[in-house]
This record gives sequence, structure tokens and C-alpha cells, in this order.
Amino acid sequence: MDITNATIFITGANRGLGLAFAREARRRGAAKVYAGMRNTNGFQEPGIVPVRIDVTDKASIAAAAELAADTTLLVNNAGIAALIDGPLAADVEAQSARMFDTNYYGVVRVTQAFEQILSAKPRAAIINVLSDIVWLPRPYLTPYAASKAAAWSYTNQLRLHLQERGIQVLGLHVGFMDTDLTNGIDVPKANPEDVVHQTYDALIAGKSEIMADKGTAMLKSTLAAEIPGYITPPAGLQ
Ligand SMILES: NC(=O)c1ccc[n+]([C@@H]2O[C@H](COP(=O)([O-])OP(=O)(O)OC[C@H]3O[C@@H](n4cnc5c(N)ncnc54)[C@H](OP(=O)(O)O)[C@@H]3O)[C@@H](O)[C@H]2O)c1
Repeated sequence: MDITNATIFITGANRGLGLAFAREARRRGAAKVYAGMRNTNGFQEPGIVPVRIDVTDKASIAAAAELAADTTLLVNNAGIAALIDGPLAADVEAQSARMFDTNYYGVVRVTQAFEQILSAKPRAAIINVLSDIVWLPRPYLTPYAASKAAAWSYTNQLRLHLQERGIQVLGLHVGFMDTDLTNGIDVPKANPEDVVHQTYDALIAGKSEIMADKGTAMLKSTLAAEIPGYITPPAGLQ
């Protein structure tokens, strides 16, 4: 799947990684770029079309899909995170419900709404923005980790299911990136523009998964080890 001449719809594209996806799509000659966002007020970027969408609201998703029926590449990017005291914290259930509504059910809802649109195109693809957290124990991110692990599982089911319709499904795994989501977390962070470059290159190369930073690539390489990274995190990833 190429970006040139593609029509791209990105959720959560008013800032952070989503905006980087939108801008880079323009640079690569996309035919049209729809930037999905909860609030379109004041959004102005040359060549990028703002579209209202809240991934927790089915009516707004249906309206966005109707408006962007020429989409050939869907990027499920919108996401939220919260820090809690750990897997036994009093708010773990409430925070998990919130994270799942956006990070898991949001992906499911938007994918369902765009599936027929994508199926009707000769070439189409979906990028799901996942995380290294699906394999990494970070107790203070328990609800976020569970929601992203669910989204990873959904991505794998979806890939196989859509294979015969010729829709490519690419899962993006990445560790901390320098966006609002990680404000106040003092760790080395990947550059979102660099992550987007790697992701589009992987899509064009026909790949199914991209590990967009060294830490995530190293973490994944431990999965078949006797003590994988999800039991003892590799040095530098704790
Ligand atoms: N930053 C990291 O370290 C990191 C690492 C791995 C994966 N990720 C993933 O990367 C993706 C993008 O995150 P980011 O780092 O760019 O974070 P960000 O700067 O906080 O941006 C999150 C985006 O998601 C949107 N959003 C949140 N809830 C939404 C909803 N219900 N409907 C529609 N849009 C919604 C936000 O819109 P508003 O402006 O309206 O809030 C915003 O545009 C997320 O899926 C995140 O989990 C991030």
C-alpha cells in the first residue's frame, strides 16, 4: 500500500502522533488527508481536512465515515493514558473502563464503520497504533497496558480476517514518544515524526508489524527467551 495518491483518515489527528501522520501523508503526496478530532474549532493546516469524530461516540463515527467514504487508509491513532498506583489501586476498574472505551472499543467501532468503505477499494490498509506496553510490565500503567494488549489481539484477528479482502493491517508498536501523552514522565522518548516515517515505510514495504524504536525491537526479540521481557524487563526498559 502506497501513501502517494492514498486517501487517509486518522483519528486523534489534531496533535501528537496523529498530527504527525497527517502532515507526513501530505508530504508524501496523499490525494486527501482527513484529520479526525473531537473538536475541529480553530484547526487549520494547509491541505488537511478536519473531521469531527469521537471514538467513544458511534453517531460521530458513522457521520465521519459517511463524509470520508473515499478513504483507502485508516489510521486508528486516538488514545488516552493515565497513571495509577498499580494493579490493585482503588481506581483500577474505573480507569480500565475509560481506557478500554477509547483504546480498545474505539478501535473496534471505527474499524467496523470503515470496513465496507475499505473493502470496496482496490487497495486499502489499516494502521493500528499500539505500544511496547503490550509486552512490558509497568504497573503504574496497568489499565492502559490492558487496553493496548486487547487492541493488539484485535489487530491480529483483524489482519487474518481481512487478508482475503486484500486489506493490509499494520500494527505499530512503540515505546515512549515525545507527545502530550508523556508530559511529566522523565524518560528518553522517540520522535513522533521519526515513528511516522518508519510506519509509512513499513506499510509501503507490505509489512504487518513495525517496532518503531530500539527498545521495543529489543523487547520483542526476548519473547521466545526462557525469561522473556514481560517477566523481567530488559535493562533500560523498566
Ligand atoms: N506518547 C507515547 O509515549 C505513546 C507510546 C506508545 C503508543 N502511543 C499511542 O499513540 C497514540 C497517539 O498518542 P499521542 O502520544 O499522540 O498522545 P496525545 O498527544 O495525547 O494525543 C492523543 C490524541 O488522541 C485524541 N483522542 C483521545 N480520546 C479521543 C476520543 N475519544 N476520540 C477521538 N480522539 C481522541 C486526542 O484528542 P483531544 O485533543 O481531543 O484530547 C489527541 O488528538 C495513542 O494511541 C497512544 O496510546 C503513545
